[in-house]
Amino acid sequence: MFAVDEPQKALKLAGTRVLSLTGTVRASILVHMARGAVVVVGGTSGIGLGIATAYASRGRDVVITGRNADRCDEAARGIAGPGAVSWRTFDLAEPQTIGAALESLGEIAHLVLAAIERDQNTVADYDVARAVRLVTLKLVGYTEVVHALAPRLSSEASILLFGGQALRRPYPGSTTITTVNGGIEGLVRTLAVQLAPVRVNAIHPGIVGDTPEWADKPESVLEAVRARTPLGRLVTTEEIVGASVFLLENGGVNGVNLEVDGGWMLQ
Ligand SMILES: NC(=O)c1ccc[n+]([C@@H]2O[C@H](COP(=O)([O-])OP(=O)(O)OC[C@H]3O[C@@H](n4cnc5c(N)ncnc54)[C@H](OP(=O)(O)O)[C@@H]3O)[C@@H](O)[C@H]2O)c1
Repeated sequence: MFAVDEPQKALKLAGTRVLSLTGTVRASILVHMARGAVVVVGGTSGIGLGIATAYASRGRDVVITGRNADRCDEAARGIAGPGAVSWRTFDLAEPQTIGAALESLGEIAHLVLAAIERDQNTVADYDVARAVRLVTLKLVGYTEVVHALAPRLSSEASILLFGGQALRRPYPGSTTITTVNGGIEGLVRTLAVQLAPVRVNAIHPGIVGDTPEWADKPESVLEAVRARTPLGRLVTTEEIVGASVFLLENGGVNGVNLEVDGGWMLQ
């Protein structure tokens, strides 16, 4: 196996089989290696950390972000290279601060927006401050990051946003999360049109069982999800990372809201 962003290694590993590649195929392997760093907003934990780790292990320079310097530093030190890992801090719910925090970044190949600050909210017991914070973070904050970094996206660049299946399967307290995940669907479409030819896609995961958010949830809660999932299990961080790399790397995929949930919505 080889990655399309490692053309030299790919050609070497492929050995004599490379002789049978046509010029077009060989060119497409090379063309799809976008120049620049991989920036993961919300890269200190869970899925974002998994994507940052995958790219650093492929030799790509990675920038992770979070709200807190100590947490960023600890996460960055835990990511094994060979790619260089650096970090920036900002709070997505304070969008006016984002531009300055990202000012020093250079060219960017892939931008991942994975951050989330969860908000348990119901219409019956509505906490306006919490709702405003999450709506600002996911919709205005994500968009402001794209605005700040757009001039530094290379011509082959791609962007990946994260929503989630609370969009299609609301649960008690998911009022704001369900709403903002709908906003992510719309954001994908408008960004893909405005930033063309930069590609913009989103993943809407189901319950990712081995993420910090879900790993310690009561077994009864997790079992209820497994029972409705045709796979008979929850999807994993590794599977979400694999889907992320596909959307970020495949030059033909654009404007897609991909559901990665093991078929949870089928029953
Ligand atoms: N886990 C799942 O099962 C699941 C299911 C559906 C959808 N999703 C989506 O997938 C994405 C990743 O989820 P996850 O569970 O892997 O996340 P997570 O482990 O909870 O990590 C959240 C990340 O967001 C950062 N963050 C939180 N609040 C922030 C703020 N106000 N400003 C800037 N950064 C902030 C955190 O950094 P610090 O804490 O270091 O500041 C951390 O890096 C999210 O968008 C989530 O909605 C996940």
